[in-house]
Amino acid sequence: MLRILVVGAAAGGGFPQWNSNSEASRRSRAGDPAARPAGQSSLAVSADGERWILLNASPDLRQQINDNHQLHPKEGVRHSPIKAVVLTNGDVDHVAGLLTLRESSPLAVYSTSRVRSILDENTIFNVLNPQFVDRRLITLGEVFEPAAKDGEGLGVTMEAFAVPGKVALYKEDGLAGDNFGTVGEDTIGLKLAARDGSAHFFYVPGCAALPPDLGGRLEGAPLVLFDGTLWRDDEMVVQKAGVKTGHRMGHLSMAGPDGTIAAFAPLGIRRKVFVHINNTNPVLLADSPERGEAEAAGWEIGYDGMEIVL
Ligand code: MLT
Ligand code: MN
Repeated sequence: MLRILVVGAAAGGGFPQWNSNSEASRRSRAGDPAARPAGQSSLAVSADGERWILLNASPDLRQQINDNHQLHPKEGVRHSPIKAVVLTNGDVDHVAGLLTLRESSPLAVYSTSRVRSILDENTIFNVLNPQFVDRRLITLGEVFEPAAKDGEGLGVTMEAFAVPGKVALYKEDGLAGDNFGTVGEDTIGLKLAARDGSAHFFYVPGCAALPPDLGGRLEGAPLVLFDGTLWRDDEMVVQKAGVKTGHRMGHLSMAGPDGTIAAFAPLGIRRKVFVHINNTNPVLLADSPERGEAEAAGWEIGYDGMEIVL
């Protein structure tokens, strides 16, 4: 069995974002139930309901732990059910929460060597006392079972694969051409499975395109949690919320003939959930036509605290 918890369903900035005065953000701040707030991108998975693996550590992590009883300390004076963290890229919304996990608690942090170099270069991450926190490498294409600091396997196996994406914003190299110096390990997707093989699913919170090999990998899956950053590629520009398109940021958009909804339609996936949803995306509003369109196409819109048992 696998227990999955959507810890934060929003993209970088969260919903409402601190400086957003959009109508959606104002509705959310006013407590409109159709504009439910959402924290920044993170998922948790557990095979036993007691020991949890955090997939990405968002800047909202302290509050996200408080909001989800599964992640509360349960024993003794100092304790956490979070035994390991697995990072899918080096974006601020996925790594800044590591800083919340200081205070000398045993932990293992898994990443590719690219993301590992970000942690190693930025000495602020040394607040995760190396006596208590192991940094462990993920090799693409190799199945591994994250283990707690003491080496005990956590019952969930994972396989990482490169997906189209972009190097973290603050690592972009303007001289490196169209892809800003992005390499394959910058953005990964994960196939996660119960150790006994009884359940599996995919987690791909950032993805810029769906080439045939990735579509083939996901085909027929029981569950995929996928990048839902934007509804349409130019929505930030149209809303005057920013100058970048989804394409420029390394994200597929949901709508249109080249969008995620269309690309997934033939793949026969049993359950499809959007996560990493930007505050400009109208699907965050439960009463928007776009939400209706996504749901009619068989998609669920992830929300904070959403639980899935496989
Ligand atoms: C992204 O997903 O594109 C990034 O998290 C954007 C950001 O750094 O805010
Ligand atoms: Mn992000």
